[in-house]
Amino acid sequence: MTESGANEGQKRRAAESAVAAVEDGTVVGLGTGSTAAAAIRALGRRVADGLDVRGVPTSHAARRVARDAGVPLTTLADATPDVAIDGADQVADGDLLKGGGAAHTREKVVDTAADRFLVVVDASKRVDVLDAPVPLEVLADAAPVVEDRVGDLGGTPELRAAERKDGPVVTDNGNLVVDADLGRIDDPEALAASLSALPGVVEHGLFVGVAYEIHVGTDEGVEVLEP
Ligand code: 5RP
Repeated sequence: MTESGANEGQKRRAAESAVAAVEDGTVVGLGTGSTAAAAIRALGRRVADGLDVRGVPTSHAARRVARDAGVPLTTLADATPDVAIDGADQVADGDLLKGGGAAHTREKVVDTAADRFLVVVDASKRVDVLDAPVPLEVLADAAPVVEDRVGDLGGTPELRAAERKDGPVVTDNGNLVVDADLGRIDDPEALAASLSALPGVVEHGLFVGVAYEIHVGTDEGVEVLEP
């Protein structure tokens, strides 16, 4: 989970903008993905300067970045996040699509447990209407059934394949991921309810009405959206 690649400067600016809002003595949810990793590293720099925080990681990957960055860690069992900082794959009207890193189940738990959820994205993530495939974390045994149900909803399912491993992606929770291409998502709330109702779906990647602020990094600076 590195910060290299396209839009690196935009991601870093968005990350630093959100991290500037973190207050001393607080608990911070630590998101997954390259932009969230930039935020964890920025938080680590503030910790080195004396900031007292504890982080709740949303994945094995986030935990590792936090350890390398020197951010002290805790768990949801011991602390409730005051703020969470996490990335997104698409942002439209304050709603999000997440799960590009297959971490959306724990991300949703931590991000929505926080008093304030700050989203950090580069400008390419802003769209008029969400339309990317929706990641579904599913019980392994349920994957064929869930794929059929996605078809019933008019979508096209694809079991996410692993890279550098034969077979499917296995999540941090031991489940599989079905990416459900459902075209334009004109009513994210209704689709979220339909997907949550599917037996075998542990969690989907639609985050509806949960963002407090969205920090969008641009080439010039940062735009902060307040949904
Ligand atoms: C992981 C996520 C990530 O936040 C999302 O994929 C964005 O990642 P990046 O900042 O690398 O574009 O939802 O499950």
